[in-house]
Amino acid sequence: MDRIRITGGQRLNGSIPISGAKNATLPLMIASLLTDQILILDNVPRLADVGLLQRILGNHGVDIMVGGKRTGETQYDGQTLHISAANIVDTTAPYELVSRMRASFWVIAPLVARMGEARVSMPGGCAIGTRPVDLLIMALDNLGAEIEIDRGYVVARARNGLRGGNIRFPKVTVGGTHTAMMAASLARGGTVIENAAREPEIVDVADCLNKIGASISGAGTARIVVEGVPKLNGARHRVLPDRIETGTYAMAVAMTGGELLLENARPELLQAAFDVLVQAGVEVTATNAGVRVACNGAGITPVEVSTSPFPGFPTDLQAQLMALMTRAKGTSHITETIFENRFMHVQELVRLGARIHLAGECATIEGVETLKGAPVMATDLRASVSLVIAALAAEGETVVNRVYHLDRGFERLEDKLAACGAAIERLSG
Ligand code: UD1
Repeated sequence: MDRIRITGGQRLNGSIPISGAKNATLPLMIASLLTDQILILDNVPRLADVGLLQRILGNHGVDIMVGGKRTGETQYDGQTLHISAANIVDTTAPYELVSRMRASFWVIAPLVARMGEARVSMPGGCAIGTRPVDLLIMALDNLGAEIEIDRGYVVARARNGLRGGNIRFPKVTVGGTHTAMMAASLARGGTVIENAAREPEIVDVADCLNKIGASISGAGTARIVVEGVPKLNGARHRVLPDRIETGTYAMAVAMTGGELLLENARPELLQAAFDVLVQAGVEVTATNAGVRVACNGAGITPVEVSTSPFPGFPTDLQAQLMALMTRAKGTSHITETIFENRFMHVQELVRLGARIHLAGECATIEGVETLKGAPVMATDLRASVSLVIAALAAEGETVVNRVYHLDRGFERLEDKLAACGAAIERLSG
């Protein structure tokens, strides 16, 4: 298993190209199941999760061709995927695959909408709390699917197709909103989705669905209206930049001091996170090329932050913010309201010398003068990268074990950081 070795203490200076968003790429790839025409996706990040989803979709009969390199392209330019779900040969998504990536459960929506049947394994346990799928099932049920739970599988049937309906989510759910939009696109009649998630990735998926012939309005607000159509077509769509990757590198430079240009980043996708960084004393400037983030290293001001659905502070940046606050000039409080048990990074940060006290969903972080390098263990995607951020500022050497978690969601992290002056390398094996 690969590890990452970091020797802390170097400032970050330079440019980091921001990749396409993982959390848009996955539902966009899944949306290809809705049509027998070709969907071309540009700016797709090179991530382990994308490769895994490619295998999962392949199992349903989807052909994915990765476009070749073009003149002038750099290693950081996103990939182009040509996706064809002309022939769906299997409507079952087995446990072995779904359990490795929760979002693959979402295939249930396009499969039942287009094929009238889907049999998808329940995702099972997950490192960050129970993460149920009850609301996704509720949405399909409201669109007329018959649902049965059979030996760990959710079986959804709609022999005569889905019909539009009203879906009111009791809790904001990104996966629920994606699946509801996809299913409703091929349903007979109109659907209203209330208390919908407003994340930028929802808007990106809605834009793409509209390009292939769907009729969706209101994406980005809490009320989405979908007019079902009998058939969808092909189109070409460019994945939006990854706001979580953007926020992660912004926190990294806030931690080390220095100045980074986050190329292609769009500040409006993570205003809440940038507001918190500004409050912490970091300079954030939007430019034509992206976002410039600078920190003079004079010290970070502590903050009080609660995670919440978009446009609030994202749960996917909570661990990274906590890493940053370990060296703040005072005491910070971070409350996690989206996922229970999303504090696995705390014990590892403590190994580096952080002072963090947990009480239920609230973490109290007392800033310390110095962190000290140590071997640490990556536990999930966002937790792992928080350890990298802490290690960049820790004295001496830190080895982060189990970096396959990082590879799921961060493209060439060590190359991007090393190019800006970090002492970071991957140790294979
Ligand atoms: C997506 C993101 C993930 C992010 C999360 C919240 C992708 C691939 N993943 O995950 O990175 O951290 O949004 O922004 O886009 N819930 C239920 N029942 C359900 C579904 C969800 O109770 O059927 C609960 C969850 O346990 C959680 C909350 O709703 O407490 C929000 O989860 P949700 O927005 O659905 O997260 P994901 O879509 O899984």
